[in-house]
Amino acid sequence: MTKKIESHLTEDRVIKPTKEFSKSARISSLAQYKKIYKESIQSPSKFWSKEAKELHWQKKWSKVLQWTPPFAKWFVGGKINASENCLDRHLNGPRKNKAAIIWEGEPGETRTITYAQLHREVCKFANALKNQGIKKRDRVIIYMPMVPEAAIAMLACARIGAVHSVVFGGFSATSILDRVEDSGASAIITADGGWRRGKVVPLKANVDEALKKSKLVKKVIVLERCKNEVKMKRGRDIWWHKAMENASTDCPPAQLDSEHPLYILYTSGSTGKPKGILHTTGGYLTGTYSTTKYIFDIRDDDIYWCTADVGWVTGHSYIVYGPLLNGATCLMYEGAPNFPDFARFWDIIERHGVTIFYTAPTAIRAFIKAGDHLPEAHDLSSLRLLGSVGEPINPEAWMWYHEKIGGGKCPIVDTWWQTETGAIMISPLPGATPTKPGTATLPFFGIDAAILDETGKECKANEGGRLVIRKPWPSMLRTIYGDKRRFKKTYWDDYEGIYTAGDGARRDSDGNFWIVGRLDDVLNVSGHRLGTAEVESALVSHPSIAEAAVVGRPDEIKGQGVVAFVTVKEGIKHGAKLVTTLRNHVSKEIGPIAKPDDIRFANALPKTRSGKIMRRLLKEICAGGEVSGDTTTLEDFQVIASLQKSN
Ligand code: WT7
Repeated sequence: MTKKIESHLTEDRVIKPTKEFSKSARISSLAQYKKIYKESIQSPSKFWSKEAKELHWQKKWSKVLQWTPPFAKWFVGGKINASENCLDRHLNGPRKNKAAIIWEGEPGETRTITYAQLHREVCKFANALKNQGIKKRDRVIIYMPMVPEAAIAMLACARIGAVHSVVFGGFSATSILDRVEDSGASAIITADGGWRRGKVVPLKANVDEALKKSKLVKKVIVLERCKNEVKMKRGRDIWWHKAMENASTDCPPAQLDSEHPLYILYTSGSTGKPKGILHTTGGYLTGTYSTTKYIFDIRDDDIYWCTADVGWVTGHSYIVYGPLLNGATCLMYEGAPNFPDFARFWDIIERHGVTIFYTAPTAIRAFIKAGDHLPEAHDLSSLRLLGSVGEPINPEAWMWYHEKIGGGKCPIVDTWWQTETGAIMISPLPGATPTKPGTATLPFFGIDAAILDETGKECKANEGGRLVIRKPWPSMLRTIYGDKRRFKKTYWDDYEGIYTAGDGARRDSDGNFWIVGRLDDVLNVSGHRLGTAEVESALVSHPSIAEAAVVGRPDEIKGQGVVAFVTVKEGIKHGAKLVTTLRNHVSKEIGPIAKPDDIRFANALPKTRSGKIMRRLLKEICAGGEVSGDTTTLEDFQVIASLQKSN
């Protein structure tokens, strides 16, 4: 049986950056990218120290990298503060009174906070934290809606050297409890509630529920956001505005070691409890600063909007740290993309004049399903650059994004990275890289990405294998919090001294990386390994289909059979005829090997709030109908009930 990962989708359309974009971009041609990339791989320390020097160091490092695989230390001996770099650094020039955050709440109110104001709030809140007894190295859980105070809380922790661990506001009490226990957190910063689809998410009540089972947390600071009723526990709970009342605005940034822990962020693995990914300061700042600068080619007059939640790594690196390090203006939106309807994002772009828009393929597919009339009714001409992150973007969604949202003129940066990598690893540079719909294209400077086979040999063009990074990079995870062994086993055991990302991928003859999907989602059909993402992409390329999720089910003859769960576009009838059409369509797009054995129609697919389809649940439904195991990250439990009924 072959162990090769096969990849059958081909894409011939090439979209080059427009002359206009290239002209003013930092990197303006493929040749320039290649030259810098080559130098950066020959001497990564040289490239990264040049980038790091653009930040403010309280004390310069004595050594760029100390590498004892799999443990890296970057900018050894250096002292640096994240909040000082995001804020104070911009106060001595024209950025002082520039908007740092433009915020829109779901109900519609807006706030603009300048760099000087944000600095003041962060200093005050940092002092408030100190007044509550929170010290350097203490772990602080942040469980908040998408409000500016979430960023203020993160930056205030960073200012005093406390380690933040943001827990996504859509997670349940059980998830909070797990993270409190694993990180040993002594404080939680939360809010009474947050708005989502017109309803209040009871954040404080969830915290109370979690803390019934833990004695670790001594302080809970509660922001008043929705004015919903909450219970305050005497001695433990304090309102944000009360804690701020007597706090001084003077808070010099703590002098922190370059390797001082900045945050822990939990991410799920294929097995076991979530992993606490630990990021440290100097290297992480260098990586997010540099990638934001080159990949979004961000400028002082941009209005940059990343639609992620601060509860995910995208929110950490590309709402808070990367953009603020660059002195950019960030838009932040509290609520759901479909509130009051699916035109909300287009309305926000038009009203605020957003120039850079960074979102996820799952959102794009939802917008396609909702209909072209929604973006068409809005003026999106302020946009100059689009981004995609989180999963492979299927070519149909790519083209729609390019034409309907970008008006055919905006480059799209399809950015591949992970919670673990801290910053973008593979992506086009918008003024330089010719793109093909569906590929994240080429590695960023200093990133030695490659595709290896089982034996550690680099794969030939178009041969599928495992995506790895062969050299350490500054924003890499340092460990799994409290579990070095799992860190080693998960990422470093396949090949000596080489990071394994857990994704299957191939490179085409131009060197572009095509991500096939997570290796644990890879199917084995008659000895051929197939990426579920490819079959899904083929299904979604059919005009009737809005979204698809593909899983394997045991099959006596083929090892695994292919089961596809699909949702159809508005107004499309589904039935036996469409099943035949779709099976033939996949057969035509990829080959008979990928033809789904079973196609099931669903109204919706089970997803996490970050938009990842929970294939594990679909597999369980295929295997027997009952869903066991952890469903705490599922956004809408009713989806499962309806899928089971349709069985
Ligand atoms: C996994 C990481 C990176 C922030 C959001 C997700 C998949 C991510 C892409 C992309 C194809 C992608 C990979 C990766 N992924 N971006 N542009 N093209 N796949 O972070 O939850 O840590 O997930 O998301 O499978 O390993 P995460």
